[in-house]
Amino acid sequence: PVEKRIDDLIGQMTLEEKIMQMNQWTYGKNANPNNIGEHMKAVKPEIGSLLYRSTNPEYRNQIQKKAVNETRLGIPIIFGFDAIHGYKTIFPIPLAQACSWNTDLVKQSSAITAKESWLSGLDWTFSPMVDVARDARWGRISEGYGEDTYANSAFGVAAIQGYQGHNLKDKYTIAASLKHYIGYSMSEGGRDYHYSDISQQTLWETFLPPFEAGIKAGAATVMSGFNDISGVPASANHYTLTEILKKKWGHDGFVISDWGSVKNLVVQGVAKDTKEAAEKALLAGVEMDMVDNIYMDYLPELVASGKIKIQTIDEAVKRILRVKMNLGLFENPYVDVISEKDRYLLPDYLKVAEELAQESMVLLKNENQVLPITSKYKSIAAIGPMVKDSVHIMGFWEGMGDPKDVNTIFDGLTKEFGDQLKINYALGCDFEGEDRSGFAKAVEVANQSDIILVFLGEKRNWSGENGSRSTIALPKIQEDLVEELSKTGKRVILLLSSGRPLELIRLNKMADAILEIWQPGTMAGAAVSGILSGRHNPSGKLSATFPQTTGQIPIYYNMRQSARPEAGHYQDIPRDALYWFGHGFSYSKFEYGNIKLSNNKFRKNEKIVAEIEITNKGTVDGKEAVLWYIYDPVANISRPMKELKFFEKKLIIAGKKEIYRFEINPEKDLTYVDSNGDKHLESGDFYIIVGNKKTKFELND
Ligand code: IFM
Repeated sequence: PVEKRIDDLIGQMTLEEKIMQMNQWTYGKNANPNNIGEHMKAVKPEIGSLLYRSTNPEYRNQIQKKAVNETRLGIPIIFGFDAIHGYKTIFPIPLAQACSWNTDLVKQSSAITAKESWLSGLDWTFSPMVDVARDARWGRISEGYGEDTYANSAFGVAAIQGYQGHNLKDKYTIAASLKHYIGYSMSEGGRDYHYSDISQQTLWETFLPPFEAGIKAGAATVMSGFNDISGVPASANHYTLTEILKKKWGHDGFVISDWGSVKNLVVQGVAKDTKEAAEKALLAGVEMDMVDNIYMDYLPELVASGKIKIQTIDEAVKRILRVKMNLGLFENPYVDVISEKDRYLLPDYLKVAEELAQESMVLLKNENQVLPITSKYKSIAAIGPMVKDSVHIMGFWEGMGDPKDVNTIFDGLTKEFGDQLKINYALGCDFEGEDRSGFAKAVEVANQSDIILVFLGEKRNWSGENGSRSTIALPKIQEDLVEELSKTGKRVILLLSSGRPLELIRLNKMADAILEIWQPGTMAGAAVSGILSGRHNPSGKLSATFPQTTGQIPIYYNMRQSARPEAGHYQDIPRDALYWFGHGFSYSKFEYGNIKLSNNKFRKNEKIVAEIEITNKGTVDGKEAVLWYIYDPVANISRPMKELKFFEKKLIIAGKKEIYRFEINPEKDLTYVDSNGDKHLESGDFYIIVGNKKTKFELND
């Protein structure tokens, strides 16, 4: 019936009405009911979509009413926005979320984002980003789930499930948009928007799988990227947009361009003018043009001249109407209007925000178990530019997050330790610059305290869109501050808030403990302080590798074997990364048993069951994420040294054990793709790897 309704509607539409559906317009942040008159003049209610940057649901409903009541066919508008890691309740950045290895929490946080967004007038978010990112200079590494393909698939699916719920027609659900299709994270040298040279093998093996998983999970829409993939820009790429996405995977929703990515085809040198850009993008498979009005301006004449067939327009509009119908917009075009206090930052939301934030944080180093802070300490120094910050701690794409709602680290420390410890604060220095005048006060405060906590980090716009950096080290002034403080001879605990893995070669030597807190969002203070006090037991493990130095990039855990494994490394730094993907300590002590396999010889059609027993030998309960890898040492196309295939996180009570289980499905877990995307399953030896345990098994025809 949906398809029949769409066809009937298309049958009644004029060309102009159809083309209007294929455009998204935007309104500024100041849109509100008081200036609605002004804005409404500009709104043609026949528009397909609005990029809606207001928190006011009434304003949305009023615009929608125009679309429904005052246009010939009453087609509702779809309202979209970037609610990437929260709307008002801000959760940690996605790179951090993946360090939690807790897909359930990510799903819950996405469902909360959907609810807050829907109640603010939205039907659609431009999330999740599943661009596998292996260059920390690229600022948008913060927006995805790290360096691994499987992790991006798993967390992308969790986010989609959270946003879209069981049925998009339900209240509080919003459509997801998988982005940025595709290969955006391969921008040369990590410079945003730059050329990305991607081999067919890498495209199929590394970049496409998370998108395929997202499509299978029902992602309603896809956003085409800015980048030029080996000479054919992502927004004009028929192969990826039509051959793969629509034909091979059967996606029946629509593709929206990224902001201006259609127009950019001219700059990128594949279209002679904006008219040709519109033609190329649509023919490649981009159905909706984000904000640059090119479709609106040129499609009528492109159709008139026969360059674009009316069937192409109809097919595009069909996809857009299908998403609107699936969202239930035709039956219920309006959102509920409730008071802001019932809409945002509810106690349950904050609880999930704290939980996800604390599970995302990664204890990189903890020499002599300096953490958690025990009662032997009577005073702590809290020093650094992040202590009282409420802006940068939310990260980039902070939705409608308001700094005044942020639980700062200082608030958190005061609540957590206020009765028990004296907290001595000093700023020390700013995020960057040369001003060292605060060092003396910081040293004085440190001298008055039993232990030193230094909170350093990146400003929010040092990562995210257009947030590329030539070095991933923190500015020298921040490192120098730590050096000064370490001269006091007291224990130094370093807390780092960043939107990317950092270069810590200098800082690592000066700190007794390092906790990477990322950009944790609204509940930063409670989450950080909970870990410092031991109320929370850290359980995060890195979703992206921390290189020794920026020059070691690219370095990621699943590299292929070098021709001379012992040679060829940089001579001036250790050969290993400083902290590899998967690294992270706990306050518990987990002991891994040996991997048990149901057999060590299998046929291709058999299931293989692997188990490992893990004991918590520590004194506190803790969650342990177990990452299962496969290594295929000989294949017709060489395989990486290990590939993540499954993960699971469980709570293990102190003194108790848990069994973790991985059911290996050869078709899924032991195959590889070739450069055409065809799967191969070869017999031979394989290894299964967990922690530092490794076991061989044999696969036969
Ligand atoms: O969704 C974003 C995208 O990730 C980057 N450019 C702008 C879009 C809409 O805000």
